[in-house]
Amino acid sequence: SKQDLASALMDAAVDAIIVINDKGIIQQFSESARALFGYAAEEVIGHNVSMLMPYPDARHHDRYIENYKNSGVGKIIGIGRDVKGQRKDGQTFPMHLSVGESEFADQHLFVGICHDLSNYKNALDKLAAAE
Ligand code: HEM
Repeated sequence: SKQDLASALMDAAVDAIIVINDKGIIQQFSESARALFGYAAEEVIGHNVSMLMPYPDARHHDRYIENYKNSGVGKIIGIGRDVKGQRKDGQTFPMHLSVGESEFADQHLFVGICHDLSNYKNALDKLAAAE
């Protein structure tokens, strides 16, 4: 949906932007998220963000969010981490994940920014092989 400024900003971003609620349910999915993960927004909005990652994180991601809500201690929020994403076709790929928090209309939201590391990792592998 391109009706508002927030969507226009999200869709202009180079990195994939995904907004979830505090149950892990996807609320927004940017154009670059579509390109990176291979899903259209309509296929993921309303579904759990765990569909975008491989096992074992997919199995445990609800608990990760619960742990954060109970403890207030973020393992990725404010830190970032290199993790593996999973595309619609099942292929996994390396990405850097940053997560931020936001309150909107009485909703506790998390904003994830996914930076694709595939090209970077491929270049590193080629360098290592050339040595
Ligand atoms: C926590 C994996 C995507 C929101 C975590 C943790 C891992 C993880 C490993 C921390 C577990 C721990 O050490 O306790 C992944 C993977 C993703 C992904 C592999 C690949 C797609 C996302 C996205 C969002 C998100 C897109 C937000 C839109 C959160 C939140 C937490 C969390 C809110 C709990 C707070 C924290 O620990 O900082 N995730 N995640 N995750 N993730 Fe994800």
